Amino acid sequence: PMVRELFGLSELEDRLKERFGMEQAVVVPGDSDTSPYAKIELGRAGAAAVRKMAVREGVIAVTGGSTMAEVAAHMGPSPQLKASLFVPARGGLGESLDFQANTIASTMAKKTGGQYRLMHVPDHLGEEAYLSLIQEPHIQEIIQVIHQARMLVHGIGEASVMARRRKIDSATIESLKREGALAEAFGYYFDASGKVVHRMPTVGLKLEDIQQTQAVIAVAGGRSKAPSIAAVLKFGCHVLVTDEAAAISILETN
Ligand code: F6P
Repeated sequence: PMVRELFGLSELEDRLKERFGMEQAVVVPGDSDTSPYAKIELGRAGAAAVRKMAVREGVIAVTGGSTMAEVAAHMGPSPQLKASLFVPARGGLGESLDFQANTIASTMAKKTGGQYRLMHVPDHLGEEAYLSLIQEPHIQEIIQVIHQARMLVHGIGEASVMARRRKIDSATIESLKREGALAEAFGYYFDASGKVVHRMPTVGLKLEDIQQTQAVIAVAGGRSKAPSIAAVLKFGCHVLVTDEAAAISILETN
């Protein structure tokens, strides 16, 4: 309550930046859990952040989800982005077509005038299938491109929500619970302290790559996601685009 009374959006941005040591935080009004308008604003602000941070001729890796789809919907023709190559950050994470990283990468490329490359990887890969898939020459090739990503734009979800959405088997769900998985981003599950406790067996960006990426932009909002967003911020990112309800809740509890 204190935070809500005392601070406007730009103060929330400053406090988030300071608290988590980020380069930039953007807070849009409202709560995207309940307001479609807030989610649209999140998409608009996310698209603006991508444009602002863009490096000429860079590879931009993107993830899937409904928030990232909203970011893609707000991208437009852009001189900074038309030499970019959009790729999915990781493959086969069990999303419906509209929310797949491949779809989002191709939409962003079409809207900005950039290029894209897709990666076709099936969902629910077992460890063995995964190991043989990464030997495939065409997968090797796209993975090499993804490893060069200079920017990563990603959504954040709650671990339990994402496990359900991905129809993960009950044994894995049990172990996620045991390990304290709270948040999910780019196929990795994080506990409250921001430690990775589980990874989806699929190809694409690795944690080591992400730690070397010049610009990591997280776009996620809604009060319900506040603990998950905080967990991923503890792992680290350069820019957070979120909404007022999530920002207030994060600052009240961290
Ligand atoms: O599955 C892709 C993904 O980006 C996840 O990594 C993330 O947890 C989720 O989507 C976010 O989805 P939404 O924006 O729909 O909540």
